[in-house]
Amino acid sequence: MNNPTETKVKRVLTGITTSGIPHLGNLAGAVLPAISASRKAGVSSFLFLADYHSLIKNLDPSLTHDSSFEIAACWLACGLNPTNVTFYRQSDIPDIFELNWILSCLAAKGLLNRAHAYKAAVTDNELAGSKDPDKGITMGLYNYPVLMAADILMFKANVVPVGQDQKQHIEMTRDIAMRFNHHYGELFTIPEPQIDEVTGVLPGVDGQKMSKSYNNTIPIFAEAKKLRKAVMKIKTNSLEPGDPKDPSTCSVFKIFKAFATESEVADFRQRYENGIAWGKAKEMLFALLDEVLTPYRDEYQKLTLDRGFVENTLQEGAGKARAVSEPLLQDIRKAVGIKAFSQTKI
Ligand code: TRP
Repeated sequence: MNNPTETKVKRVLTGITTSGIPHLGNLAGAVLPAISASRKAGVSSFLFLADYHSLIKNLDPSLTHDSSFEIAACWLACGLNPTNVTFYRQSDIPDIFELNWILSCLAAKGLLNRAHAYKAAVTDNELAGSKDPDKGITMGLYNYPVLMAADILMFKANVVPVGQDQKQHIEMTRDIAMRFNHHYGELFTIPEPQIDEVTGVLPGVDGQKMSKSYNNTIPIFAEAKKLRKAVMKIKTNSLEPGDPKDPSTCSVFKIFKAFATESEVADFRQRYENGIAWGKAKEMLFALLDEVLTPYRDEYQKLTLDRGFVENTLQEGAGKARAVSEPLLQDIRKAVGIKAFSQTKI
């Protein structure tokens, strides 16, 4: 029976592409917020390693493999409780790839022509004066939004937390899902994007958004010495010690703020007004990060010594995920006309 007072559980799904080492931006923008959301009542979280998405960005097997482990261990080290969520590896769910094909037969080519990642690659070719605008562009890059739609629709996600750069992919997912539902019947949930607040976006050492694509990241699990080195590289302006400094435009301050308590932030702000030297501000940021990251780093070290545990956890997660994807895929196959012949004789 439908109980009107019962609040419906919201399914929240997000993935991280396994093509780089986990960095501070992943932590502040995706991992920590997703872990705290997964602890809320009324939320069912689906969190996964988008390992087949990694091949779009690189063809280095050890990079994809090592990154998968590092990102899986990162989620677990930062406090994800795999029994409360469905935590899995994309490649363990063959249903996603079958759905990928079905969706690619519904997705308009014109829609994919407009995808930002593809368009940016074409623009690069044009700027480089290439005769072929598609030079070096793979079908993987071109189909990327369809695979992402399959990731999302396979689990009937209601909400998909992503960075601003992924917003268009969620719009495409909605478009493809509506086309399917219109043509074959309402099997898919139309997902809503949940875009990072701009304040949730961490700057990298060069001041742009921290991203493995920009090569400006601060690693999380590296030893303290490397962390310090990365912090010291953060770009600042040329104001001298004693000059009052503006925290609102400063990467050191923004990163500090993402990990400090309110009173620590207030104190740091005061120091900016009083003209803290950049070297000192960076030392303070390093000390804060080192303190915040040490427990995660210790946990991560333990996991690197127990890779079997991480593997088993993902296998269990794949079992939970397939319990959702398999029955839905059966319905989808039937809806599109892929089914066993009936035994009835005519
Ligand atoms: N493309 C996303 C990124 O690079 C990762 C991703 C793959 C994803 N599939 C997804 C995110 C599905 C959300 C939902 O950030």
